[in-house]
Amino acid sequence: MTEPFLSITDLRLTAKTDRGTASILRGINLSVERGRILGIVGESGSGKSSLVSTIMGLLAPGLNAEGSVMLDGVDLLTLSSANMQSVRGNKLAMIFQDPMTALNPVFRVGTQLVDVVQNRYPGTSQEDAVKRASAALAKVGLTDAERRMKDYPGQLSGGMRQRVMIAMALLCQPDI
Ligand SMILES: Nc1ncnc2c1ncn2[C@@H]1O[C@H](COP(=O)(O)OP(=O)(O)OP(=O)(O)O)[C@@H](O)[C@H]1O
Ligand SMILES: [Mg+2]
Repeated sequence: MTEPFLSITDLRLTAKTDRGTASILRGINLSVERGRILGIVGESGSGKSSLVSTIMGLLAPGLNAEGSVMLDGVDLLTLSSANMQSVRGNKLAMIFQDPMTALNPVFRVGTQLVDVVQNRYPGTSQEDAVKRASAALAKVGLTDAERRMKDYPGQLSGGMRQRVMIAMALLCQPDI
């Protein structure tokens, strides 16, 4: 039997608040095989985003995660923030729920996409990175992708910004 690529065991997430410790995730167990899709469904506030942020190692101060998040044989909860930084974008990518806060409002969409490509694949020429970024925008269904590259996030609709986030995640070619 092969090991699942992602395997989460008894994951608990707590938050320190003025009125004591609040429990956000209580004993999550799940696994994802390579090449498979896992859907997580729950009402608003049930903890879907908190779960994915924990996997990505993007926890706000005051939040504490326990249990284990095994990715390709490594427990992500034990990694230093520098090591976690290299896991994000290479092995893991996340499409953030709120693209307005995830995209930087003062940089053009194209600049942000090109940055992602050049961070992920150091040494990529500017010309090649621009080509890849624009192709990714076209792939997610943004019409006039080349022109959109010059837009600032505020010039796009919410749905278009969401597509930019999807393009950004795809450009990283993550494992999951
Ligand atoms: N930093 C924090 N401190 C305290 N509580 C938090 C913190 N972050 C999230 N929570 C709480 O964790 C719970 C889960 O929130 P989360 O955003 O993960 O839900 P969700 O399932 O993604 O909801 P939605 O469907 O609305 O996106 C909520 O009750 C939220 O208030
Ligand atoms: Mg959410």
